[in-house]
Amino acid sequence: MKIAVAGGTGVVGTHTVAAVRENGHEAIVLARSTGVDVLTGAGLDAALQGVDAVIDVTSTGTQSRKAAVRFFGNATRNLLAAENRAGIGHHVALSIVGAATIDAGYYAGKAAQERVLMALAGGWSILRATQFHEFAQQMATMLRVAGLQLSPVMRCQPVAAAAVGAALAEIAAGEPRGLDHDLAGPHEEQMTRMVKAYLAARGDKRHVFGLTMPGAFGKGIRNGAILPGPDARLDSLTFDDWLAAQTA
Ligand SMILES: NC(=O)c1ccc[n+]([C@@H]2O[C@H](COP(=O)([O-])OP(=O)(O)OC[C@H]3O[C@@H](n4cnc5c(N)ncnc54)[C@H](OP(=O)(O)O)[C@@H]3O)[C@@H](O)[C@H]2O)c1
Repeated sequence: MKIAVAGGTGVVGTHTVAAVRENGHEAIVLARSTGVDVLTGAGLDAALQGVDAVIDVTSTGTQSRKAAVRFFGNATRNLLAAENRAGIGHHVALSIVGAATIDAGYYAGKAAQERVLMALAGGWSILRATQFHEFAQQMATMLRVAGLQLSPVMRCQPVAAAAVGAALAEIAAGEPRGLDHDLAGPHEEQMTRMVKAYLAARGDKRHVFGLTMPGAFGKGIRNGAILPGPDARLDSLTFDDWLAAQTA
């Protein structure tokens, strides 16, 4: 099969592309750095020639509800229109556990993305995953302010991006599933502890201050709304084992 991965250069995208190839399929990477823009549509039609399924793992750095809804809504609609023109019958999207319920900030964009797909008669799969183990690294970089290290106060059950990429590659090679089971890691964590452990593994012993995020977004990530459902598939790799492997 020929499988296109939109966002195939990103954190989970690189693992997804690797998994598609490991499974013996051809992977096409759609990203601005490869000449394809899912917002303007530039390069999209040419890149989707002969493709059998599309996995969407694009993302934006915004926390603004309006900008996130615009990004994920437009990206999804543009991809679906191009898939239609190319006769592609399977669109796989990666969403986030709890995002549709919280429906605020960045998560409002994921909720909008899910709604666009769920309104279709078929031909789509949505995998909701929890935060990646790699999210601790993303937070350590994004939330360093004037030498102080912050981390959102967040209950989560993180999973390795590699496990998410493998699951997406498997889904894309099969029939559309609609809304799939949640995918999560083995147990609950606190993001503040993860960021502290991530820094400590690099010899940085600084204190990590918990940041209580405002509004519905902050409340949701504090109160367990982004923890997986009871029928979730759980990968076995813990954050600490993932971290030890990164720094070995
Ligand atoms: N991070 C987490 O913990 C987590 C957990 C669960 C689900 N997710 C979901 O996983 C997805 C990927 O997240 P990530 O952290 O792996 O993202 P990321 O590392 O920021 O990568 C984003 C990717 O999107 C591409 N992209 C951005 N704008 C684009 C555009 N206009 N046209 C084409 N490509 C574009 C980027 O490539 P270029 O810059 O070259 O265009 C890059 O390949 C997101 O949908 C996110 O909601 C994330």
